[in-house]
Amino acid sequence: MSRIPKMIALVVLVVATTCGCAMSEEMRRINQMKEINQRRDLQMTTDLSGQQVFVRSCNSCHPGAKQGMGPALDKLGEHFPSDEKLKKFIRQGVGSMPPQPKDALDDQELENLVVYLRALKFEEKK
Ligand code: HEC
Repeated sequence: MSRIPKMIALVVLVVATTCGCAMSEEMRRINQMKEINQRRDLQMTTDLSGQQVFVRSCNSCHPGAKQGMGPALDKLGEHFPSDEKLKKFIRQGVGSMPPQPKDALDDQELENLVVYLRALKFEEKK
């Protein structure tokens, strides 16, 4: 008489525990993915390195800082002796070169970009 309810109780117990474990494993994975995504979002929006900014916003027209749709950037030091001038130019853009407002590029990222640009090396012209 009482064997069947006991069996049922046992089955329910077993199912509940295994499900519970599987569920928490699933939850752990979901949380992990959430964390990874959050971290990636952060990387996408702020705190980009100079190189990351360059690849995102400049490389399409100045591929590898060489001539593309825009000019090569090897005369940068000549044309923009001061960082202030260079930053102003990048912020404003010119002609088909798009401006970079603060919501696209914060001050720190602009600073990083300028440091990156200043450090670019070009092969000596023969
Ligand atoms: C849509 C294409 C395009 C993009 C994107 C672009 N540029 Fe340009 N860039 C140009 C063009 C075209 C010129 C030449 C503008 C002119 O003098 O009329 C130029 C000129 C320049 C110059 C002046 C070079 C010199 O020696 O006089 C610098 C520096 C420069 N770009 C840096 C950048 C940086 C840094 C970025 C990324 C934030 C960028 N550009 C993104 C098209 C682009």
